[in-house]
Amino acid sequence: MAAVFEATVTAPVNIAVIKYWGKRDSTLILPTNSSLSVTLSQDHLRTRTTIRASPTFDRDRLWLNGAEEDVSASKRLVNAITTARRLRAEVEKQQTDAVPLSQWPVHVSSENNFPTAAGLASSASGYAALVSALAALFELPQSASELSRVARVGSGSACRSMFGGFVAWQAGVAADGSDSLAVQVADHTHWPELQALILVVSDRKKTVSSTAGMQTTVETSALFPERVRAVVPGRMEAMQKAIAERDFATFAALTMQDSNQFHAVCLDTYPPISYMNDTSRSIAALVHAFNAAVGRTAAAYTYDAGPNAVIYALESDMRDLVELFAYCFPRAEDTAPDAFYPNPLGLFESPASVGRQVSAPKVAELAHAAGRSPAGCVRRIIHTSVGDGPRVLPASQSLLDAAGLPRAASE
Ligand code: DP6
Repeated sequence: MAAVFEATVTAPVNIAVIKYWGKRDSTLILPTNSSLSVTLSQDHLRTRTTIRASPTFDRDRLWLNGAEEDVSASKRLVNAITTARRLRAEVEKQQTDAVPLSQWPVHVSSENNFPTAAGLASSASGYAALVSALAALFELPQSASELSRVARVGSGSACRSMFGGFVAWQAGVAADGSDSLAVQVADHTHWPELQALILVVSDRKKTVSSTAGMQTTVETSALFPERVRAVVPGRMEAMQKAIAERDFATFAALTMQDSNQFHAVCLDTYPPISYMNDTSRSIAALVHAFNAAVGRTAAAYTYDAGPNAVIYALESDMRDLVELFAYCFPRAEDTAPDAFYPNPLGLFESPASVGRQVSAPKVAELAHAAGRSPAGCVRRIIHTSVGDGPRVLPASQSLLDAAGLPRAASE
């Protein structure tokens, strides 16, 4: 049997606590400011990608969740693959007996284990998986930071998914982007008590894409240059210190303030962009009310370019928070309890009990005062933890069959 040149990897989702918003170069994807994120566990949310190179393929082809996409139509995809091939060609120049993989077309199959309909961004985990799979297949000698520059040309936030734990994307100053890369601030074992909840919010409106939205912000917002110049540098430093010291109250306040400022510059964009909806705003108010009720900053919200909320909190507060959110934002009748609240970390014995009652008296008082939104405003609650970076999987996990076409969906 002829040798198969293939690699399969998984890559994680990341959620920024200091937001990336704005580019100074939209081809190389160079940001106007540094940003910082937390990588979420791949045990719950991940992209899995297989790449195979073969001289028998006639062109580059890619399938996303089983449906073929036109590779040549995506400049970003072509940029990422071409950059990785260039790095492989350097390897081949140095090792004259190396297989000429840089010359062969590739087939790529990529699957997310979270439904696209959940409204969770998949470009970060998607490009991080693509670049990690190319690096494994091409046996590239570059470090994860160096490879993050390749993921960055696919989608800015993807560079941060090249690491687990807590990750800074340093904006850099070089015109060629050589110093615009991700570095790990702390790994996923640094702060094991920190956990995340994703509240998937129902939304009918089509949102403005991050790419288009941030371009309009850079062109029209008068507040935006002030954020970049006077606010973000100090917050990056304060955030790194809070993480190093595992100071949740500071981490949480900075996270909420930065999310709020990002959405404020979106509103200051002309025409204005609003990503949060009424449910998103009710969740933010409930987090502040929760913090007031427990007498400390125990939970933080953050929102990206859509209405979903990501809540960071310590493990010891998670039970109260899940009970509170599930009570105030009850599930729709047609949603199975374990689809609404999958419970992979085993916080409750039965997901069916979630949302029926709030055990802690102070939180119960708050829940009753806040009242219940109509069922279905929150469609799902995902409880997850901080996770590691991209993983290389064994050949048995391949998403391609013998002919190099996608296997039937397996997850
Ligand atoms: C609001 O990385 O999706 O999630 O670089 O144009 O692909 P492109 O944008 P993208 O923007 C993410 C913006 C954000 C904030 C963040 O993740 O830092």
